[in-house]
Order: sequence, then C-alpha cells, then structure tokens
Amino acid sequence: MKDYLATIVENKKIANGVYSITFRVDEDVKVRCGQFGEIAVGGSHLLRRPIAICKVEGRDITFCYQVKGEGTQRLMSAAVGQKLNVLMPLGNGFFVEGSEQKVALVGGGVGIFPLVSVLREYLGKKHISSYMGFRNEGAVCMLEELQKADKCVVVSDDGSYGEKMNAVQAFEADLAAGNRPDVVLACGPMPMLRALKQVTEREGLTCFVSLEERMGCGIGACLVCVCAMTNGANARVCKDGPIFNAKDVEL
Ligand SMILES: Cc1cc2nc3c(=O)[nH]c(=O)nc-3n(C[C@H](O)[C@H](O)[C@H](O)COP(=O)(O)OP(=O)(O)OC[C@H]3O[C@@H](n4cnc5c(N)ncnc54)[C@H](O)[C@@H]3O)c2cc1C
Ligand code: FES
Repeated sequence: MKDYLATIVENKKIANGVYSITFRVDEDVKVRCGQFGEIAVGGSHLLRRPIAICKVEGRDITFCYQVKGEGTQRLMSAAVGQKLNVLMPLGNGFFVEGSEQKVALVGGGVGIFPLVSVLREYLGKKHISSYMGFRNEGAVCMLEELQKADKCVVVSDDGSYGEKMNAVQAFEADLAAGNRPDVVLACGPMPMLRALKQVTEREGLTCFVSLEERMGCGIGACLVCVCAMTNGANARVCKDGPIFNAKDVEL
C-alpha cells in the first residue's frame, strides 16, 4: 500500500449519476480484485473517500463512482491532468480457491464495480456466472465488461432493462434451474446482501460479501469502520475486510 500522487487521465459519465475516473501512476501497482483505494478528493476538511478498484490496465487505475455527497461531487468536478492522492491498494480482496471452479457474482448498483475486477482477474480461469441488478435502464453500465462472463444476467428494479427483479432473485431463479456455483461473491446494498445470505445459507453455499462501511483512515487505525461478527467480536471493514465470509458477519 502506498499513497500515490496520481494524474487523472479520464473522468467521464457512464450512467445516470455514475462516473468512471482513471488515474495514471508512475509505477506498476499490484492489486487483488476487490481491493479499494482511498481517494483524497480535496478540501482540507474532507476525509478521503473509499472506492473499489475496478480496472487496472498497466499503470492506469480506474474507479467508478456514484455521485452522492460533497466528496463524490468534488471527484466529478476534477479535471483531466489534475493530480490527486490515492492510497491503494487497501483491504483483503476476493480470493477464489483452486477447487472452486464455478463462481457466481451477485451485484447491485455500485456494488457491481468490485465484481468487474473479479471478472477481469478470473476470466478464462473459472466458469463465471454474473447476476447484476440496477435501479433502472439509466443506471445500467459496464455491460461490455459484464457480458464477458460465461453467463451474464442483467435485471432492473422497474423492469426497464432485463427482467423486473433484483440480482438476488435472478441468482435464485438460476439456482432453481440447476446452475449451482461452488462459491458466491457479492457486493451491493445491505438489504441485498442480507437476502443473499439467507439464500446461500439455506442452500449450503459458500458466500463472500464485500461490505461498505463509512471509513476514516482506511488502514485499520481509527476504528470508524467496525462491523459486528457473528462470534460477538468486531472487525475493521477496511483492514480485516472489506470481504468477509457471509456466515462470519452480522448483516
Ligand atoms: C470498501 C468500499 C468500496 C466502495 N466502493 C465504491 C465504488 O466502487 N463506487 C461507489 O460509487 N461507491 C463506493 N463506495 C461508497 C463510497 O465510499 C461512498 O458513496 C462515498 O464515500 C460517499 O462520499 P460523498 O462525500 O459523496 O457522500 P457523503 O454522504 O457526503 O459522505 C459523507 C461521509 O460518509 C462516508 N460514506 C457515505 N456513504 C458511504 C458508504 N456507502 N460507504 C462508505 N462510506 C460512506 C463518506 O466516506 C464520508 O466520510 C465504497 C465504500 C467502501 C467502504
Ligand atoms: S477506516 Fe479507520 S480503522 Fe477502518
């Protein structure tokens, strides 16, 4: 992990309220899929913002973000050529065991971005089925990446793109049709992860989830990001996670 002074080479809209920003750094960065960066968005009073690393192409690192509040608005306004500090790579990342050949990716909203990095890392090495849910057609993005999966199901909450259902329902429907994965990797809003945990526990499937907690330091020092484990202990999402076995965390 290092604090890079990274140059913005692209910052463009990819869906309603969603942008993709690419930074160029001056050395190769070794990143595991599912890791994230803490981007200093400017403004001395603002904490860095945690965003998943979506793509690494040589020394170009791409993050995709939904504009929510002051931090992501500042990021949206950042110009090509501007330099920002990015602390990366952070967190544990996703890891697929050698014995796990069939991988299911279940993503909702901005949760699809760390899963794109999984797809890029394991494409051609594992059989990947992806189930991605968006609010509506205007929110759909990264189709060219998602469609590289061996199977790609894209749905929307209002039925304006694909079937009217959420990503967990799409996953469950395929499970009922006999497509049973060895492992499920997921990221998305908490209600989605909660529903997925119920399904995977019922089906006896191993499931890893990427959690999005509010963060401060991003390196395990401030304890802003703690989450409750099922054994009664606490874990730091930034350092012990953000990826956890779903059975180990309270959702
Ligand atoms: C590991 C990780 C990966 C993430 N990856 C992505 C991604 O790829 N794309 C994306 O769009 N968003 C991602 N998020 C969520 C993103 O960090 C927040 O949406 C963003 O920080 C909001 O900042 P803001 O100033 O625009 O909003 P504000 O609401 O003004 O933020 C205020 C404070 O709350 C924190 N905060 C608000 N919402 C969240 C949240 N959901 N998670 C964590 N902190 C939050 C901010 O860091 C800030 O300290 C990720 C979060 C985590 C923890
Ligand atoms: S953000 Fe500081 S310990 Fe996790």
